[in-house]
Amino acid sequence: MSRLRVAVLASGRGSNLQALIAARDAGELPIDLVLVGSDKAKAGALQLAGDAGIPTFVLDPKAFASRRDFDVELFRRLDESGADVLVLAGFMRILDGEVLKPWVGRMINIHPSLLPKYRGLHTHRRALEAGDAEHGASVHYVTAELDGGPVIAQALIGIRPGDDELQLAQRLLTFEHQLLPAVLRLIAESRLSLLPPDVVVLDGNPRNGPLQLRNGHLVD
Ligand code: GRF
Repeated sequence: MSRLRVAVLASGRGSNLQALIAARDAGELPIDLVLVGSDKAKAGALQLAGDAGIPTFVLDPKAFASRRDFDVELFRRLDESGADVLVLAGFMRILDGEVLKPWVGRMINIHPSLLPKYRGLHTHRRALEAGDAEHGASVHYVTAELDGGPVIAQALIGIRPGDDELQLAQRLLTFEHQLLPAVLRLIAESRLSLLPPDVVVLDGNPRNGPLQLRNGHLVD
């Protein structure tokens, strides 16, 4: 059976991309990473991809007349790569709902909150300010609604007294690095799909809540 072809978009340091590369190299993730794209020429993710021998590209938003033009070119590149699945791993742009439509069901995003809580930015700060006892990360299918697509799986951590934004973000990140490869693995094994508009299906069964990451594994 041919391996799942995966493209990744990232705007930043790329630690989640690195987690995918490491899982693939360890034989735990049967995927081929076919393309890494970014809107930031200096993104660490591009360097990591280059070092791993993965083709990369950068699109500078300033070179496009509109957000939509940027997205059209972005998805043209992704189509051209022959990717089966697209992973948003710290890609900090809002995508055009119409342009992304053909990818619904084969595009996932990792977001650092327990969705539906705290869509958008500054999730760690907002969880701390709200006095939450728990925080976490979610992997969800991407739809036109920002951080609003059906949630596949979550990693949950406790907020400790004295935690600041950075500590919390760092502690969560280690769980993100388990969560994203674990979800992608379910897709690579053809165990996971989206029944539009919003039903996540695992092993043929509709889910009524996100899977949970426990000890590195996804469980009910
Ligand atoms: C992660 O916290 C991810 O959840 C969010 O952006 C951050 C990306 O970090 N969407 P990295 O670039 O993968 O290190």
